[in-house]
Amino acid sequence: MKRSVRIKIISMGNAETGKSCIIKRYCEKRFVHKYLATIGIDYGVTKVTVKDKDVKVNIFDMAGHPIFYEVRNEFYQDTQGAILVYDVTDRASFEALDSWLAELRNEMGNQAEADNINIVVVANKIDRKRVVDETEGRLWADSKGYQYFETSAQTGQGINDIFQALFEGVVSALENGGKKIPIQTQLGYTKDQIEAIQRLKNAKSDYDRLGLQLGATKDDVNKAYRRLAVLLHPDKSVAPGSEEAFKILVAARTTLLKKCS
Ligand code: GTP
Ligand code: MG
Repeated sequence: MKRSVRIKIISMGNAETGKSCIIKRYCEKRFVHKYLATIGIDYGVTKVTVKDKDVKVNIFDMAGHPIFYEVRNEFYQDTQGAILVYDVTDRASFEALDSWLAELRNEMGNQAEADNINIVVVANKIDRKRVVDETEGRLWADSKGYQYFETSAQTGQGINDIFQALFEGVVSALENGGKKIPIQTQLGYTKDQIEAIQRLKNAKSDYDRLGLQLGATKDDVNKAYRRLAVLLHPDKSVAPGSEEAFKILVAARTTLLKKCS
């Protein structure tokens, strides 16, 4: 007998990025050219089979316009999955992605629950002349540990992939006691690697670069060094900036070991 589950999905992203059209394309296999702004929130239900389970999906399609903040804010609770959409022809919609994450976090209240929401980043309107390129979008998504999809609600390209990945992510998390399963990013490197590289490049002190407190011992330094060296060794890591970060790491370790002795 199949087990049936119920999940809650939301859409997020600036107004006019195509959230409603993406959902309509997926659920009704059609596209509407005329822009009909979502007023506050639209709600729909669809049924799918994921990993041999019947899944009832509740979709809350949010209005992107700031004037609807007061209406949509109460619908974040209990969300398990989200499509975070930007429009590749509109840079401002890409730059707004962080503020959408911040809104989600604020409204969720429970941060552990917020961390376990499966989010997929959707670069929409790829049928048109774009101003945000694929690498930029992928890097942003990768740096957050989210899957990334290029889509057109108009042609239908990539639309099913978004929902399949999202539903599988949510169902896998449910099977894992509600804890999200980290993804292997499409570029072949992990969020941990990107964070380590950014930290090594941007930190103000050598202690900070290795993630150590002032007064760390030789042993602490060597442990931190080994952990990061495994993560970033240029022979193994394909994350951009690994080589430079590895050199910074070696130099920081040398300096700190001298200080400790
Ligand atoms: P709000 O509800 O205001 O937050 O907007 P939304 O994100 O739901 O946008 P919506 O789906 O209503 O689409 C906005 C406009 O973009 C409409 O005119 C759509 O026809 C158009 N649009 C959506 N997706 C695509 C796409 O993939 N390609 C093209 N060319 N146009 C699209
Ligand atoms: Mg809409």
